[in-house]
Amino acid sequence: MDGNGRWAKEHGKIRTAGHQAGAEVLKDIVKAADALGVKVLTVYVFSTENWKRPQMEVDFIMQLLGAYLKKEIPEFNANNVQVRFIGSRNGLPESVLEELDLVLQSTAKNTGIILNLAINYGGREEIVSATKKIVGAVQSGDLKVEDIDEKCFENFLYTGDLPAPDLLIRTGGDFRISNFLLWQLAYTEIWTTETYWPDFTPELLQTAVAEFGKRERRFGGLGN
Ligand code: IPE
Ligand code: MG
Repeated sequence: MDGNGRWAKEHGKIRTAGHQAGAEVLKDIVKAADALGVKVLTVYVFSTENWKRPQMEVDFIMQLLGAYLKKEIPEFNANNVQVRFIGSRNGLPESVLEELDLVLQSTAKNTGIILNLAINYGGREEIVSATKKIVGAVQSGDLKVEDIDEKCFENFLYTGDLPAPDLLIRTGGDFRISNFLLWQLAYTEIWTTETYWPDFTPELLQTAVAEFGKRERRFGGLGN
């Protein structure tokens, strides 16, 4: 969900106002994705690298996140949205973890779209963390080295039982992955837009999905 800061600048506002505006947009996009038949929507909320930002901005984002999660529980439940989390709990403020656990718990039984929140998430951190879990399982005798294959490795990632994403949408006009789902994106189709996240709309989501529908996916093979 990139471009909040630039959106704010363009509107003569401080960066944090952009984050506020960006948070407001998400619920309409979740509904629109659900209406389009999307089963899993993963949003990159905060990366393991975003801690490098000025303390005031980081504090604002964390506060906004806690408040947002708390406020949206009834809406998630009304729309049958199951919220999940990927990322590292280490380093997240206690207040955010509390609201996060509450939203995960309150929506766990919902059977509609999965809204997967990537918070304090980094693809490299995820791979290192999976590796540590695998080593632990080998050391305790629960896993044999010869049984480690791609399928097995995947199960140790934060995304565990989720399918690899079909489509990656990057807002804000940059052309990079920025440490997002490094393993999972291997054959994901990428669609980018110059539009800053606070200006992203259900119509743009439809456009992205329609473009995706025209792509020929070969997964390294020769296609049809
Ligand atoms: C995305 O918007 C929000 C987070 C990374 C938390 P940015 O804050 O990166 O916005 P730009 O890239 O500065 O416009
Ligand atoms: Mg950015």
